[in-house]
Amino acid sequence: MWRNYLKEHQIQVEACLQTLVPAQAGPLSRIMESMRYSLFAGGKRLRPILLLAAADAVGAVGSRFLQSACALEMIHTYSLIHDDLPAMDDDDYRRGRLTNHKVFGDGMAILAGDGLLTLAFETLLSQTEVAPEILARVAREVAQAAGPAGMVGGQAIDLESEGQLPSPDVMKLMHRLKTGALFRASLRAGAMLGGGSEEDLRSLTDYAEHFGLAFQITDDILDVTGTEEALGKPIGSDEKNQKATYVSVYSLTEARRMAQAAVSDAVAALERFGDRAWVLRSLAEYLLTRDS
Ligand code: IPE
Ligand code: IPE
Ligand code: MG
Ligand code: MG
Ligand code: MG
Repeated sequence: MWRNYLKEHQIQVEACLQTLVPAQAGPLSRIMESMRYSLFAGGKRLRPILLLAAADAVGAVGSRFLQSACALEMIHTYSLIHDDLPAMDDDDYRRGRLTNHKVFGDGMAILAGDGLLTLAFETLLSQTEVAPEILARVAREVAQAAGPAGMVGGQAIDLESEGQLPSPDVMKLMHRLKTGALFRASLRAGAMLGGGSEEDLRSLTDYAEHFGLAFQITDDILDVTGTEEALGKPIGSDEKNQKATYVSVYSLTEARRMAQAAVSDAVAALERFGDRAWVLRSLAEYLLTRDS
């Protein structure tokens, strides 16, 4: 049943993104094409879905906030384009197709990332139907999560720790920032937009921390045990780049156990929402069986 929710909302997100990032003729056609190439390559749209589901959980109608949801997907897609660049993970495939820089060149890929990041904030702040003070709060939340105290910071630690085995604490911090921060912002933004209470916000933040952790552990596991076909990105990328991952710092068995514990903690954080959090509950459980 939640798979239907997922499908339905993925379609809504897709349609909204199409209007926000349209194809264009003329001098700007190439940069638009490059942004669209990565944006419309079949991502799971997890961050937008989490935002919508969080708004649902606090009693609002999530689909009212599709633009915010799309903004998060733009930021996420930008982070993937840059993550794959030769100067970073140097990967050739993403979302089942050649990486952006392989098709458009490094320069245009960098610009496509920059374009998606800035367009995300334009999109967020253009929601005239949302009260300005809520918009400002959401924009600040998302900026913080994407920036040096969040995703960019995590990616920096990731780069610096290549070839070393960092302490479990540094690795935890790295993962919390590079992947966890955007998930956290998605859930918190959904709660803020949906008019949730501070208590709701706290519980969803708690859920987000555990969800993000479980997500990154399973991403690391899939880099070892997954198939390129299902994942749409190469496996073994972490080993190639001597990355610190949950599998390399702990072990496959221990990583699996940790993912399970994180999912249980995520689900436990949803207690106060009852049935309204059914999508969030299913999403957390799905992490343990996902193959992409
Ligand atoms: C992959 O994210 C990159 C990480 C943050 C580990 P997703 O697995 O959500 O990628 P898409 O959006 O479905 O392609
Ligand atoms: C990247 O982590 C997280 C981002 C902020 C993009 P990874 O480097 O592990 O992501 P994948 O495995 O390439 O998708
Ligand atoms: Mg990386
Ligand atoms: Mg990578
Ligand atoms: Mg990975």
